[in-house]
Amino acid sequence: MNILILGGGGREHALAWAVKQNPKCDRLIVAPGNAGIAAIAECAALDILDGDAVAVFAAAHAIDFVIIGPEAPLAAGVSDRLRMAGLSVFGPSQAAARLESSKAFTKAICAAVDAPTAGYAHLTDARAAHAHVTSQGAPIVIKADGLAAGKGVVVAMTEAEAHAAIDDMFAGSLGVAGAEVVIEEFMEGEEASFFLLVDGTTILPIGTAQDHKRAFDGDTGPNTGGMGAYSPAPVLTPAIAERAIAEIIAPTMAEMARRGTPYQGVLFAGLMIRDGQAQLVEYNARFGDPECQVLMMRLGAQALDLMLACAQGRLDGASVAWADDHALGVVLAARGYPGAYAKGSTIRGLDALPDSSTGMVFHAGTMRQSDRLQANGGRVLCVTARGATLHEAHTRAYAMVDMIDWPEGFCRRDIGWRAL
Ligand code: AMP
Ligand code: GLY
Repeated sequence: MNILILGGGGREHALAWAVKQNPKCDRLIVAPGNAGIAAIAECAALDILDGDAVAVFAAAHAIDFVIIGPEAPLAAGVSDRLRMAGLSVFGPSQAAARLESSKAFTKAICAAVDAPTAGYAHLTDARAAHAHVTSQGAPIVIKADGLAAGKGVVVAMTEAEAHAAIDDMFAGSLGVAGAEVVIEEFMEGEEASFFLLVDGTTILPIGTAQDHKRAFDGDTGPNTGGMGAYSPAPVLTPAIAERAIAEIIAPTMAEMARRGTPYQGVLFAGLMIRDGQAQLVEYNARFGDPECQVLMMRLGAQALDLMLACAQGRLDGASVAWADDHALGVVLAARGYPGAYAKGSTIRGLDALPDSSTGMVFHAGTMRQSDRLQANGGRVLCVTARGATLHEAHTRAYAMVDMIDWPEGFCRRDIGWRAL
């Protein structure tokens, strides 16, 4: 089968790596891809937000199955356009992807099904938003309603921070994403990421992970897209996971189907866990990055079978073959990230590293200039390893990190600390 993956980050490198191992995959094209992906698949320059262009490309290349990595094409309706063209697609419709693209939508669904989540107010003008903060006090969480590439949430520890965030968002700092805000109660607890495949009806949990959002060791510094992850996340015990499905995820999916917009694809539930109970922080309509890298390392080739079953409505009867193992990934980012950083520095030492089912360097912002590998983004590599224990995966991953010669990059040294 000919497969097209949309995206070009570490998540898509990991998806391509897993898909490529499955004998069902004859030809693999990734658009736009990156330097790491180019070593295992064909890369194509394509505007992945343009559904018509992707449909034409898919027809011209006899594509059978499209896997959509990032949220932007989902929110732009690319999956709908491809399904209209008769393609098999992994990724929810534009209407179902609102679970990620509108925070107010998700809060309203949670309220309709009584799913445990932070109390909230949805406000469309700055005055009312300021008044709400004044009446509630801090800490309090201010969220832009729309997609904001991870920059739309301010956890305000003081009222002054909350007021400043409201002023910023309504002044247009995030464009239309901030034209409406959701203001939430602050939840305490430990966060974990829960991944489930949903084919419209059947829900199949495929793994748990924990991300590290802050830039520096000890969970300090600014928020980032994620500086490292490991799987499984022991805080999300089987009992808590089961209860989260029963109280949060299954009712949400049933409500989406009832409204005529069934969800099909991977559902990423960000959960806050406290006293043995989960509350919903947010949904994403895609795999997490770098969570996907550790999940794919553990799932391997079966990821393709699972995504196909999901896209074709065959999850009933599907199951995940679990190895009782652990994976851990360390992100190497350009110095300065998540603020301003330079591009074009040279990365050395990757050739000496393993490329196997126990250790893999997934590329994000990389490009090749003749024979030199160059940094071309904020998050640049995710060095991922697998082990019988988390400790083993951790040791392997950092041994690989230490073989990479890239003075212009940095990483956290404490990925996995909560579980180690
Ligand atoms: P997001 O960009 O939507 O993933 O949110 C960023 C982060 O903000 C989340 O991962 C949480 O750490 C934090 N967060 C979001 N909502 C809340 C809340 N109601 N209470 C506490 N922390 C929150
Ligand atoms: N790593 C968090 C995310 O992908 O949203």
